[in-house]
Amino acid sequence: MNTMEIDNRQTVRSDALALFGVTGDLAYKMIIPALYALVKRSALTIPIVGVALEKWTLEQLRARITDSLQHEGGIDDRQAFDKLLSLLRYVSGDYNRQETFSSIKEALGGAQRPAHYLAIPPSLFENVIQGLGTAGLAKGARVIVEKPFGRDLASAQELNRVAHSVFPEDAIFRIDHYLGKEAIMNILYFRFANSFLEPIWNRNYISSVQITLAENFGVKTRGAFYETVGCLRDVIENHLFQIVALLAMEPPTDQNPDAVQTEKVKVFRAMRPLAPADLIRGQYEGYRNETGVAKDSDVETFCALRLFIDSWRWEGVPWYLRSGKYLAESVNEVVVELKPPPQKLFDDSPQASEGSNYLRFQLAPHSAIGLAARIKAKGKKFIGDQKELFVIEEEPGEQSPYERLLGDAISGDRTLFSREDATEAAWAVVEPALKKHPRALPYKRGGWGPEEANALIAKGSGWHNPSL
Ligand code: BG6
Repeated sequence: MNTMEIDNRQTVRSDALALFGVTGDLAYKMIIPALYALVKRSALTIPIVGVALEKWTLEQLRARITDSLQHEGGIDDRQAFDKLLSLLRYVSGDYNRQETFSSIKEALGGAQRPAHYLAIPPSLFENVIQGLGTAGLAKGARVIVEKPFGRDLASAQELNRVAHSVFPEDAIFRIDHYLGKEAIMNILYFRFANSFLEPIWNRNYISSVQITLAENFGVKTRGAFYETVGCLRDVIENHLFQIVALLAMEPPTDQNPDAVQTEKVKVFRAMRPLAPADLIRGQYEGYRNETGVAKDSDVETFCALRLFIDSWRWEGVPWYLRSGKYLAESVNEVVVELKPPPQKLFDDSPQASEGSNYLRFQLAPHSAIGLAARIKAKGKKFIGDQKELFVIEEEPGEQSPYERLLGDAISGDRTLFSREDATEAAWAVVEPALKKHPRALPYKRGGWGPEEANALIAKGSGWHNPSL
């Protein structure tokens, strides 16, 4: 294939969308509202072929779509809603049977460049990818794959191998919905659109980086799924690692998706493989009574870890990552702690062990940036307080991550999707801790996880527990 052909395939719009798993939870909650939003702004006009095992009629699928939209935000544009329904087709079938793929082909009509979105359990990926290949549905097509992309290094490599036996790398769109969030895209922008940060953005000025992704609810109805993943696989290896990569990467040569990916891969490769001693696993009280959860489950619903990036820029700087269900708040935040000034000039100059200056990116529930610095208090003495310069950068009408990512995949923009080497390099980091780890410690609901997580931060000001 020559370069021109590759470029064409990368930028040409898909002319149909096959949505595998259209009757599932993810489709109901995220994908259908995203499709509706795309139709509303005239960014989606192609046929949508829903695929699932359920023996539904098209009318039943339409009723499900209506229900999803009413439930997830409402229907505020009748014309767009009718348009979305008119684009729909439905194929019911078993992914193990080749007839299913023949029916999909028929439903896709004369589409030359379909996008196949696999919103299905990972155990079905291989069958579907191979079915698409055998039916001749991969030619000129794209495949969009939901997370989790594998469950360890070997399975991710195997999945990549299967995907590549049918699709070239630039036709594979691996979704991590965190990359479609405005606040997370802003990390890349904020770092490289400003010059004031770069001189201090390294081991000479930064003492540590903390990232917290806390949720104040449990596994809800996803107990059975959660039992197969646990916190480390569910959100740390992907969502939090992507945030680390954006914070830690070197400037890419340009905005080209591959240039950005290359810098991220370098970060993952420089991450020191996670040692069991750098990991605390926790499980919220009552988790074992959740539906679909084993009575003696050791699956972690909380993880705190200490990570190192062995690069020139980050040598010796600990990265503390933490996530958990049933914690005190639902919040996602990054705190980059700066070293104290080298000279203790004032009576209240902070020591290394006290709160020092920091830069804070709040990513959810609000998108905001805070820069904490000491300011002199009134009076004769040279003493002061740490105050935060705080900017809220939320704008109304932001696209949802799924709207953004789906729109990008249909138009062939790969910037916000993960490349093969990045997914494998990230799995390689957590691999040792997946194989060998301490038992999950019980923790009470509504706090910040097991006490033992505090011991990971031996010096510095401890975990920053975000308050909203
Ligand atoms: C998903 C995980 O990928 O991300 C969930 O499977 C988690 O367990 C969710 O709750 C968090 O996403 P968000 O966008 O709500 O922060």
